[in-house]
Amino acid sequence: MTSPILVTGGTGTLGRRVVPRLRAAGRDVRVLSRHGRADEDGIRCLTGDLATGEGPVVPVPAGWRVQPIDPGEVADRLVALALGAPAGLVAEVGGPRIYELAALVRGYLRAGGTRRPILPVRLPGNANRAYRAGANLAPHRAVGRRTWEDFLAERVSPGTRSSGGQAGPSVKTSPQ
Ligand SMILES: NC(=O)c1ccc[n+]([C@@H]2O[C@H](COP(=O)([O-])OP(=O)(O)OC[C@H]3O[C@@H](n4cnc5c(N)ncnc54)[C@H](OP(=O)(O)O)[C@@H]3O)[C@@H](O)[C@H]2O)c1
Repeated sequence: MTSPILVTGGTGTLGRRVVPRLRAAGRDVRVLSRHGRADEDGIRCLTGDLATGEGPVVPVPAGWRVQPIDPGEVADRLVALALGAPAGLVAEVGGPRIYELAALVRGYLRAGGTRRPILPVRLPGNANRAYRAGANLAPHRAVGRRTWEDFLAERVSPGTRSSGGQAGPSVKTSPQ
């Protein structure tokens, strides 16, 4: 059995031509756009906004990894640096573990009691290439102690999505 193909923007100038071709090839299609349409045979229409993340799917940059760190630990370090002797360029600090961003978002949603499909979106550009290559990570400096799982257990419970003040997927700090 083949899985359905998601056509983002499937109601637009291009998408309207892609969808019937996929149907002609025997594939079931999901169409995502901001303004809903009626379903047709083999075509299920989903409403969502890829720019804001509102809707049935959660867009996540494909291939990104993150190394969340507890902001309290970062604050401790920043204050120690500010109060200490001038240190010049200091070592980076990163959280204790590295996660695929999609897995991290999935866990976050699940901890809040929701299940929504994650849609990896491949982004263009140099910044995206750098993220995909892990330029935002500090694997050699995984010195943070509080894990993402600790955060989820303590701060995100079903129906309480806002965590107020946790690191979230902030990645690393490079106090300089
Ligand atoms: N047509 C061309 O000549 C051409 C050439 C080169 C590249 N492209 C690129 O191909 C893509 C499609 O072009 P097109 O001409 O088909 O554009 P279009 O006619 O404007 O269609 C855009 C589609 O995307 C949906 N959409 C727009 N913003 C969205 C959002 N934030 N979240 C979810 N869905 C959204 C629209 O539906 P809703 O408004 O209901 O959301 C619509 O289905 C674009 O990226 C365009 O830059 C087009």
